[in-house]
Amino acid sequence: MGWKTLDEIEMRGRVVLVRVDINVPMENGQVSDATRIEKIVPTVRDILAKGGKPVLLAHFGRPKGKVVPEMSLAPLLPELEKALGVPVRFAEDCIGGPAKRAVQAMAAGEVLLLENTRFHEGEEKNDAQLAASMAALGEVYVNDAFSAAHRAHASTEGIAHILPAAAGRLMQAELKALEAALGSPQRPVVAVVGGAKVSTKLDLLGNLVARVDHLVIGGGMANTFLVAQGIDVGRSLAERDMADTARAIIARAAEKGCAIHLPVDVVVARAFAEGAPSEVLPANACPTDAMILDAGPKTVAEISRTFEACRTLIWNGPLGAFEIAPFDAATTAAAQKAAELTRAGKLVSVAGGGDTVSALHKAGVADDFSYVSTAGGAFLEWMEGKELPGVAALMR
Ligand code: 3PG
Ligand code: MG
Repeated sequence: MGWKTLDEIEMRGRVVLVRVDINVPMENGQVSDATRIEKIVPTVRDILAKGGKPVLLAHFGRPKGKVVPEMSLAPLLPELEKALGVPVRFAEDCIGGPAKRAVQAMAAGEVLLLENTRFHEGEEKNDAQLAASMAALGEVYVNDAFSAAHRAHASTEGIAHILPAAAGRLMQAELKALEAALGSPQRPVVAVVGGAKVSTKLDLLGNLVARVDHLVIGGGMANTFLVAQGIDVGRSLAERDMADTARAIIARAAEKGCAIHLPVDVVVARAFAEGAPSEVLPANACPTDAMILDAGPKTVAEISRTFEACRTLIWNGPLGAFEIAPFDAATTAAAQKAAELTRAGKLVSVAGGGDTVSALHKAGVADDFSYVSTAGGAFLEWMEGKELPGVAALMR
């Protein structure tokens, strides 16, 4: 695919700098979701099996070029050791004396984690000197951080130009899944795009209408499209100043032969609260003092029929306010339908984005999708058709 894999680079006896994304959520000092840590295991194990010495480069949070002790990677060591099943050493800096000494002290079969790359100002600036200092620690560079590949940083981009570079297993899996979903998919293709705002997903919608056969729009952004059609949505979340933009997207979709699916019925409530009394109404009948918080059952039935007619699904964003019951119903039902078709071998389903992934977990179907991306922003930018600097840098 234009980049090297772990199998095409000599690693025996070599120090392999591996950019990983272990930017995991924490609650009270404990990792609350270790998915990103578990997903780097195949790459690290393969490097060890090939006789290489894996040295992990990673960021954590957004310390903005300063040493912020609360954003140290050190607390992740126990989770890393648990997932990898080998000792993981730690160096308190990703360059210089501490890093060099830790690399030299590595025994065969060990893994070394270097402190947060974003503690250095040069990281986000893609500073050539910082990239060179990191590169000086090893002989090979592997990028396994697809979810940080939309950042052109020293450890994701700059360094790839200095050392022989390869994509890790997770990076490969992510790119393969996205290629199958949007690059050269089996048609027809349906995209589900939800979330609060049209304004944050303009590029996405613009790219998708030209590439997919069906576009299901849900969440708060669907309200904006209803407004664009002259429908009163009461107190619903909607970007009323985006009506022209929404109309332009509808026009472009018609031009490109993409069918847009908006809610035909909606769940409305007077309060945005768990268990708030709600009712199902036609999409054009939201009372002026109520707000739309989910898609209704007729809409879900239409989405299900669309899924049945398609071979590929790409999903980003929930259909309603899925964090609070009962407004998770449409998202859950549609996710379960997609899972059922995937299990039956009738649909290739790919999903990404933080909210989307939590919604799939909530619906109990994350494992049934063909692929669930570890990426948020990078997944979105990829769906927008943008080049990801971290991926581009691996191409030679
Ligand atoms: C993420 O969690 O989205 C990635 O780790 C990238 O982090 P960032 O948005 O702070 O660049
Ligand atoms: Mg992000």
